[in-house]
Order: sequence, then C-alpha cells, then structure tokens
Amino acid sequence: MAYPYRHPNEVQVLSQYFGDPEARTLKGWEARGGYQALRKALGMSPAEIVNEVKASGLRGRGGAGFPTGVKWSFMPQKSDKPHYLLCNADESEPGTFKDRELIRWTPHALVEGCLIGAYAIRAEHAYIYIRGEFFEPAQILARAIEEAYAAGYAGKNVMGSGIDLDITLHIGAGAYICGEETGLMNSLEGRRGEPRIKPPFPAISGAFGKPSAINNVETLIAAAHIVTHGADWYKQWGTEKSTGTKLFCVSGHVKRPGNYEVPLGFNFREFIYDMCGGTASGRPIKAVIPGGSSVPMLTADELDIGMDYEAMAAAGTMLGCGSVIIMDDTTNIVKQVRRMVDFYAHESCGQCTPCREGTAWAAKILRRIENGRGTQEDMDTLLQISDNMSGKTICVLSDAAAAPIVSSIEKFRGDYLEMMHAGAGVPVASAIAL
Ligand SMILES: Cc1cc2nc3c(=O)[nH]c(=O)nc-3n(C[C@H](O)[C@H](O)[C@H](O)COP(=O)(O)O)c2cc1C
Ligand code: SF4
Repeated sequence: MAYPYRHPNEVQVLSQYFGDPEARTLKGWEARGGYQALRKALGMSPAEIVNEVKASGLRGRGGAGFPTGVKWSFMPQKSDKPHYLLCNADESEPGTFKDRELIRWTPHALVEGCLIGAYAIRAEHAYIYIRGEFFEPAQILARAIEEAYAAGYAGKNVMGSGIDLDITLHIGAGAYICGEETGLMNSLEGRRGEPRIKPPFPAISGAFGKPSAINNVETLIAAAHIVTHGADWYKQWGTEKSTGTKLFCVSGHVKRPGNYEVPLGFNFREFIYDMCGGTASGRPIKAVIPGGSSVPMLTADELDIGMDYEAMAAAGTMLGCGSVIIMDDTTNIVKQVRRMVDFYAHESCGQCTPCREGTAWAAKILRRIENGRGTQEDMDTLLQISDNMSGKTICVLSDAAAAPIVSSIEKFRGDYLEMMHAGAGVPVASAIAL
C-alpha cells in the first residue's frame, strides 16, 4: 500500500519505511538493518550511549523538547533499586498523529529504541504505554514484541550479552491526562491518571516509586538511529540547538494533509505552501497552530520562521509535538477556540482549582460569545481567567488551555467583536438555541 503522500524535499529518516508493509515483520526489519543498533548498543557501556545521545543534541519529541541525553544522565548511576524506561505512546494532543504511524509501519523500530533506552539508563524493564483507542497499532506492536522475544532480542540474556531486557505493552483507557508523564505513571500503576506534584522527579521516584525515564515514541526511535550512525551524522540536519529531523503532522484546511519529515529549522512558510500545497480551497490562510492545540496561534504574516524550538519561541509560540493545524479565512476563530477549551475542560483531571474551574468557566464564556451574547467585558474576564490558569497548577494542561484563548484574543480580536455584534438584537432564547 502506497503511503498517502511523500514530498521529494522531505528527509526521511524515521519515516523511510512508511507504506512498506514488509518493514513491519521481524524478517523485513532485519533485512533493513533492524536490531543492528541494539547489537551495537550492547557492545557499548550505558554511559557511552548516554554521552552519544547527549552529543547528538536530540530533544524530546513529546512536546517539551527536553534534551534526551541529559534526561537519561539524571538517572542514578549507582542504585540497588530497579530502574524503568517508559515509552509514552499515548499521543493525545489534538492534531497529533505521528507516533501511531511510526508504530503502525515500524513497530520493531520502537521495540529496538525502547530496549536501547532501557539499557542506557540501566533498566531491565521497559513499559510502552499506548492509548487504548490505537487498537490496530497496539496489535501490530504486540506482535513485534512477541517476535523480538522469540528471536532473543528481548528477555533474558539479550543476543547472548548476559543482559536482561524485558518489554511490556500497557494499553491505557484513552485520557489526555494519561499522556502527562506522571499521570501516565499513576495510570500504569493502576491508580487514577492524575499528575503528581514534582519534586520528586521521575529520575528519583517515577513508576512504582523507582527511578524512571520517560520518552516519546519518536524520541526513542531517533535515539536508535543515533546509536547506529553517531551524533555527528544526526547533527547534519537541523540548527545548532534543534538538531535532526522531525515528523510534522499536518491537518485542517490544507491541500495535502499527513505526516512530513523535515530537518528542524525548515522554513515554515515554504513547508505549508510548497510542501503541503497551501489551503485546500486556495483561500488565504487565517491562522496556523504550529505545535498542537496547546500552543499559541500564528497569523498568516508570521510564517517566515524556522521550524525549530528557538525560532518558534522567538515568534511567541512553541514547536510542541509538531502538529500543524491550518485554518483558512473561512474559520470562525471563536468557535475553534471554544472547541479546544471544551476539550481541555473535559480532560482536566480536576485536582487544581485554576484548571478545573478555569477551563469550564472559559468554555462557558466562549460559548456565550459564540452564541452572540458576549460583551467586551467577557474578553477581559477570559484574559484574567487565563492568567490565573498559567503557571499555577500541578501540570501544564491548564497553561495549554489558556494559550489558544490568549493568542486568539491578541491576534483575532476582530472575530470576537464580530460575534458580539452578530448577536446584537438576537433574542436570548434563539441565541441559546443556536
Ligand atoms: C496534558 C499533557 C499531555 C501530554 N501528552 C503526551 C503524549 O500524549 N505523548 C507524549 O509523548 N508526551 C505527552 N506529554 C509530555 C510528557 O509529559 C513528557 O514530557 C514526554 O512524554 C517526555 O518525552 P520526551 O522527553 O521524549 O519528549 C504530555 C504533557 C501534558 C502536560
Ligand atoms: S493542571 Fe489540570 S490536569 Fe493538570 S493536574 Fe491540575 S487539574 Fe489536573
């Protein structure tokens, strides 16, 4: 089956076998060089692997962009407690669909990445926490894990190295908050998927109260490539501080939606217009969310920037997990933001008052504005609520919910005013019914 769309200017490292069903099988994976990275890793010391990944500059692809080698180096070097490697395959950020594709097409790449990551942090057990709705990817991954055990790539005495590495697939129940690292740990332990207060940080007390490192699917697969080819090879792509290639998930009013792999630092405008074909309708772009629904929006005039962590931050937004949502000029921004805030209100775990109350209250106000009954004061209230929701809670779901509210009011105030004027004279009863 041909993968939906490949652009000649992509640099396909992680996604090179998308659309190639043979790569899913153990035989096919081995024929493509599979498990050579694990073989090489087992010949290195854990510290050597950590140093190579550190030198590569690889940053976590789950959203925050934290340097992977540095995270791994936080794990205790000498400890009699078990260590755990957790792979975050929850992929719940609206607009994101890269991890499930990596798993669907290259499940052994993830198994290999997890085994290498586990060995590097001196863990004997890796857990992959996958979202329950990913039924097909989970089945494919379960089969790959079985094949890896049968071939001696996992389990006792991996590849005759004397090292034991177990890997367990854990299927979640589908809650956005279980993608947050400590919510994931609670859920894995059979508790409510609620984020934990930090400190203690996972490297000291993570899953089952033991030192743990948690990484995104894409991060672990990239780490395996770095072990095979070295840090300098990886740094041939990207910018000084944002190295390597990254998968970007493109959706919305776009001509060619899908996953694209490009070097970090790629020009965003060129990416959207040339690679993805611009809007499906040919109409002008109104807004773009560059990194998943949790990050501030950009206007069409703000797209001449690099697709890297620093350039996005300088533009007042974030690269996040690379989920690009494109909206053309027919978009009602108030409605879009209300839908996003509804999502966060539904997914808030409810532990923190600013998040629990703030998301629900903001959603109510936005709905009122959408129904034509808003006032200018509502915008001030929304900004006040957003301020109270930012930087004051256990996890950043609350900040994530505030980001689209604030950026939309700053950049698309006209849409809010229009909705208010549209509502002028609308009888309250019919406005409620809208
Ligand atoms: C509400 C919320 C949801 C998250 N969901 C995911 C997710 O689905 N997948 C993911 O990899 N990271 C997610 N993260 C980020 C994780 O907490 C964590 O930073 C990440 O798994 C670390 O991996 P990395 O260093 O490889 O990026 C989420 C964070 C928050 C606050
Ligand atoms: S910020 Fe929201 S989702 Fe995060 S812990 Fe607090 S209430 Fe739960």
